[in-house]
Amino acid sequence: MEKSLKDVAIIMDGNGRWARNRHRPRIWGHVRGAHVVSEIVESSSDLNLNSLTLYAFSTENWSRSKEEVYFLFKLLDKFLDREKEKILKNNIQFNVLGDYSFLPEKTLKKIINLKSLTSVADGLKLNFAFGYGGRKEIIDAVNRYIELNPNKAIDLESLENNLYDSSLTDVDLIIRTGGDLRISNFLLWQSAYSELFFTDTFWPDFSKTEFEEILKNVSIRERRFGGIGKVLSFDNQKIIAKKHSDSLVSEVKSLEF
Ligand code: FPP
Repeated sequence: MEKSLKDVAIIMDGNGRWARNRHRPRIWGHVRGAHVVSEIVESSSDLNLNSLTLYAFSTENWSRSKEEVYFLFKLLDKFLDREKEKILKNNIQFNVLGDYSFLPEKTLKKIINLKSLTSVADGLKLNFAFGYGGRKEIIDAVNRYIELNPNKAIDLESLENNLYDSSLTDVDLIIRTGGDLRISNFLLWQSAYSELFFTDTFWPDFSKTEFEEILKNVSIRERRFGGIGKVLSFDNQKIIAKKHSDSLVSEVKSLEF
């Protein structure tokens, strides 16, 4: 795979609609979605990605029903139990991005435990964005900086050092499932030069096959990071310029008045 696609993030959308299409409650879609999470984590680890960041609970998701919100907390708890061994076996480093202090005590303990058990793992870095909002992350970073440096202006590097995960400052690719074409407050800072890929597939129908297909498709895009991409050598530019000079001269002349 192309070297540049190493840090990938996913907005896992469409669980509710997937369930509704099957005349099931919304949480049905989340349950199926959690199984897809396992499959994509495994695939990312097999593909040797640096990091996979999953948008699992946003600062805006609080506007859902209490039952659904609580269910998502429980699902995370169960996920930690179910996937712990696999995470350890596959040398995955587990991390949570966001302000997730609202989670039940027992879930917080499981997170702390898994984070510490995997802190030296050097395989895939798996980030669960939970209680996460991109705007809040930037505000939190600025406030953390001001607290330590009250009279100093913040610069790019200082801001990046104060993000939730200072090693994740740029994401190569953001995939969104579920058909909507927006970023929804996800990784606002880190997505400055991300490639974006939107698929209509609802998250519970997403698969390793589609994931790998997307990575393959995106890896052949040219990423210019504000530059002008691959540039011909000066000699080659001269040869091409000579070849086209006659037609260009007449074209320019025709524009003169
Ligand atoms: C968006 O779909 C999905 C979420 C807000 C939750 C994401 C959760 C999972 C993928 C399940 C796995 C999570 C854990 C914690 C292991 P939606 O409900 O907004 O779908 P809709 O747009 O069709 O209504």
